[in-house]
Amino acid sequence: MVLKGKKILLGISGSIAAYKIPILVRLLMKEGADVQVIMTPAARDFVTPLTLSTLSKRPVFTEPFNPVDGSWNSHVDMGNWADLMLIAPASATTLAKMANGIADNLLITTYLAAVCPVFFAPAMDLDMFQHPATQRNIQTLQSYGNHLIAPRDGELASGLCGAGRLEEPDAIVGVIRKFFEVPQSLAGKKVLITAGPTVEPIDPVRFISNHSSGKMGYALAAEAVKRGAEVVLISGPVALEVPKGLTLRKVTSAQDMLQACTEEFESSHVVVMAAAVADYRPDKAETSKIKKTGHKPVLQLTENPDIIKTLASMRLAGQFIVGFALETDDEVQNAMKKIDSKGLDAIVLNSLNDRGAGFGTDTNKVTMIHRSGSSLITKLESKEVIASRVFDFIQESFDL
Ligand code: CTP
Repeated sequence: MVLKGKKILLGISGSIAAYKIPILVRLLMKEGADVQVIMTPAARDFVTPLTLSTLSKRPVFTEPFNPVDGSWNSHVDMGNWADLMLIAPASATTLAKMANGIADNLLITTYLAAVCPVFFAPAMDLDMFQHPATQRNIQTLQSYGNHLIAPRDGELASGLCGAGRLEEPDAIVGVIRKFFEVPQSLAGKKVLITAGPTVEPIDPVRFISNHSSGKMGYALAAEAVKRGAEVVLISGPVALEVPKGLTLRKVTSAQDMLQACTEEFESSHVVVMAAAVADYRPDKAETSKIKKTGHKPVLQLTENPDIIKTLASMRLAGQFIVGFALETDDEVQNAMKKIDSKGLDAIVLNSLNDRGAGFGTDTNKVTMIHRSGSSLITKLESKEVIASRVFDFIQESFDL
């Protein structure tokens, strides 16, 4: 279900075709989408907010604030919340206001504030649709990158026949579904991803580890599955839901992770090491709990194998190896050094200096660096979006 969990802002403007929108809301809800309806004042003459709020299971907004309790229906928050905004039906007036930024109702202020892709499905009488003003407004909206869902030819409410009929709800859902469908561009490829921390036992009760939550690696694995890859996720101990459609291999220590990676490596086309591997482990894991002695205890450490370096040294033609680097100082230079010293094709750099990026957060901001030195910086975005940017970068850089 491609639309499952997708946040859709549905703007309804004043056109008789608004009577079809409750069906559209039902179809979107059935596909698992989260639908927030906004209506222009004129739309309320054609379909009731009660019908739409019942179907969408959310309050329907027309005004920027609630006149009873003064609560604010923030167009900016809604514009940031949505994965997609759909204006259906888009009347001639609404198209004109969108094209010219005339922000005199909540639908238009939200449209102007929306940072997501926008689709619009015009509906009006034949002559209104063909008028040069309407046609010019449509072209203007397309020049902004908005997507037209063209009206159909057919019988119109006026009794005339021609273009202007709102596209049918199931076809509108089809267009949106197609937009979210990810091409199976990694079909036939095996992608090996590591995630989470490694845990190095001191005794049966204590260990050395780090703060890695595994969220970035799990998001990468889910993205590779979406793109059709055969995915093996080798994960240190984390508390995350396992994405469907992949093989999970749970490991604990760096040595376990190396073992699992080595077994999976030969048949892999792409390796992405997002795991935060502990650099050192205790010389010896005690089999019994270490007791207090009254002296200052000393923990002797041994360096762990460098997993990605080991894999890179066994690399076969056509394999791509991508590391992660978490740096605090001289970030890019240090990341470039790691590409060289570990024999990588690319590295994804996290800086702990970026707020909202790094350990435990749901967001991240990264710099993706190719071994040639070319790089790409992302904005602060959800780890899911960053995962898709990382795979876009990998696939573009290595022509996969
Ligand atoms: N890595 C690895 N095995 C290790 C240590 C790190 O495979 N023993 C991998 C990480 O998964 C990551 C990359 O190497 O993809 C860089 O990890 P990082 O911790 O930034 O680098 P280190 O080599 O540990 O260097 P330092 O801690 O000194 O910065």
